[in-house]
Amino acid sequence: MDGRRVVLGVGGGIAAYKVADLLRKLTEVGHDVTVVPTESALKFVGAPTWAALSHHPVASDVWTDADDVPHVQLGRQAELVVVAPATADLVARAAHGLADDLLTNTLLTARCPVLFVPAMHTEMWEHAATAENVAALRRRGAIVLEPATGRLTGTDTGKGRLPEPTEIAQLAELLLRRPDALPGDLRGRHMVVSAGGTREALDPVRFLGNASSGKQGYALAIVAAARGARVTLVAANVDLPDPSGADVVRVTSTADLREAVHKAAEDADVVVMAAAVADFRPSGYADHKIKKSDAGAPPIVLEENPDVLAELVAGRRPDQVLVGFAAETGDARGSVLDHGRAKLARKGCDLLVVNAVGAGKAFGQADNAAVILGTDGTEQAVPLGPKALLAAAVWDAAASRLLS
Ligand code: CTP
Repeated sequence: MDGRRVVLGVGGGIAAYKVADLLRKLTEVGHDVTVVPTESALKFVGAPTWAALSHHPVASDVWTDADDVPHVQLGRQAELVVVAPATADLVARAAHGLADDLLTNTLLTARCPVLFVPAMHTEMWEHAATAENVAALRRRGAIVLEPATGRLTGTDTGKGRLPEPTEIAQLAELLLRRPDALPGDLRGRHMVVSAGGTREALDPVRFLGNASSGKQGYALAIVAAARGARVTLVAANVDLPDPSGADVVRVTSTADLREAVHKAAEDADVVVMAAAVADFRPSGYADHKIKKSDAGAPPIVLEENPDVLAELVAGRRPDQVLVGFAAETGDARGSVLDHGRAKLARKGCDLLVVNAVGAGKAFGQADNAAVILGTDGTEQAVPLGPKALLAAAVWDAAASRLLS
């Protein structure tokens, strides 16, 4: 993607140091990023760091280079403004339309999507004043993420951490490609996503598994949370940081995944089965490491696993939307799409996301292309792009099928 103009507003919180990494991620893919720190942000990370990483001069006030009228130009030219960390003070100033430094002026002149990434202590986040300020910003169309839960500045833990820079970068990239991709349309809804690949143990150290990285499922969880949903992410053997705003249930085998998905699905509005679930498991488990012997290679006898998606379809509530994924290669009997259409009919879910795999496609990659098939005959092609872009298209399709 061509470089786009991004303003990165940095608030005065300890998480400012993590935003240096976010800045790197945005510039590495070619975006032209101007950093606008508040004066207090500069107490945490100095102007030379922002200037060196962004290759642009850095100012906090409206008086520097006043002949360029930066407080108007920056906002007008921006295609995206990201505010991270959005401190309680910054959220309050933005919500009230104050314009007492370069960043708050920029927020008033910008007409592009604005993504606030709050980070503060739990008490400050939960305070009624902050809650009202966040609600005001959301009402006006700004995207305000939920903070992550975990270790805070001191020894305390709670809600208030800055989400991981990779997560923020994914959402920023999504908004640059689709400014309308994060409406708050899933607020009050419960979305369940399975991700990764299940492993079936042969002995204490060996398993049968597959190459799913979990990236697509994680992108689905990140995008759903950013659209306001409560998200349960059932993650099978995924080596990625927990998305903020998602309850992550870690599982290993198909049996574990099945139990976790059914439990989460009870009150779910949508279940997306993005996990690569093993169809078969070894029928026996050796409780010791299988040794080489003169008898040669031991045979592996397999038995069938339950089809979790089929079980969800069989036990569904009428208002629940069920989404399957089909990773296909195509063969002599039909193309990737032929197999996808047959699978949708066979599985009975509402939507099936069909993508081609093999030869370096989809598995483990940052990008994905797919066709979203609907039982109503709709077929929406999503061209190759970041997995968050496909995730947004899946949520659009699922949300349009939810009863209001
Ligand atoms: N799935 C599931 N439980 C299984 C296998 C698959 O819930 N035991 C789900 C996957 O998460 C996915 C969908 O079913 O959403 C399709 O998976 P896939 O393996 O492509 O389907 P299969 O019916 O196993 O078809 P195939 O013969 O092509 O493997």
